Amino acid sequence: MQKSLENISIENALGVCSVSEDTRLLAQISAQGRPHRGLDLGTGTGYVAIYMTLAGWDMDAVDISRRALDVAQHNGRLNNVKINFFHSNLFDATQGHYDLIACNAPMRGNETENSRLLTSTLRRITPIRNLLMRITHSLAKRNRLDFLIKIIRGAQSLLNENGRLCMVLFTFEISELLANIPELICSDSQPIPSLTGLNIATFIFNNNAETEKALNL
Ligand SMILES: C[S@@+](CC[C@H](N)C(=O)[O-])C[C@H]1O[C@@H](n2cnc3c(N)ncnc32)[C@H](O)[C@@H]1O
Repeated sequence: MQKSLENISIENALGVCSVSEDTRLLAQISAQGRPHRGLDLGTGTGYVAIYMTLAGWDMDAVDISRRALDVAQHNGRLNNVKINFFHSNLFDATQGHYDLIACNAPMRGNETENSRLLTSTLRRITPIRNLLMRITHSLAKRNRLDFLIKIIRGAQSLLNENGRLCMVLFTFEISELLANIPELICSDSQPIPSLTGLNIATFIFNNNAETEKALNL
């Protein structure tokens, strides 16, 4: 029997990001509005895709980690939902366009299965996780910004008109991204209570921004 939004069952394995407050809030905010076609980019345990499917969305979910995909597919069966799972580096294996893309990106764009084993384990302990995120961020600042810009540019090309992109981001990252991408508009930002400085940012695109700039409008 299909589960309800309140009693989603999630099982996890070593090396896969566990469901945390950011995951839950990302799912709730992404699922708002009229359900259409959505993508969970970097699905981990599959929680966001499962939540959104139960809220009526038609979901694709991708992850670069086969370990994560196995867990997500198992959780999909556990909750009796139909989700299209793809093994994919970002958008490489996605098909068609979306009305919503949800993404809780890793701190670095070049994680390996081994580094993921470490970070996904530490992520389970909130205070250590906060510290780890800040250290990793300061060490890999440019790498993370470039990775986020790549995700946003990919999402921009795959979102339908009026489509939304929801991401877990530090407050200062939202400003950096807005400064780097003229077409990007942050339509909403909700702080995550237990993760100081982190937000669920909702973006939309003004795809005429470049033209307007060129025409001096
Ligand atoms: C921070 S975890 C988030 C997991 C889940 N969405 C959540 O919110 O709990 C990031 C996920 O992105 C995946 N990932 C990392 N790099 C990726 C890439 N290049 N393409 C697709 N997925 C990627 C990781 O394997 C991991 O499952």
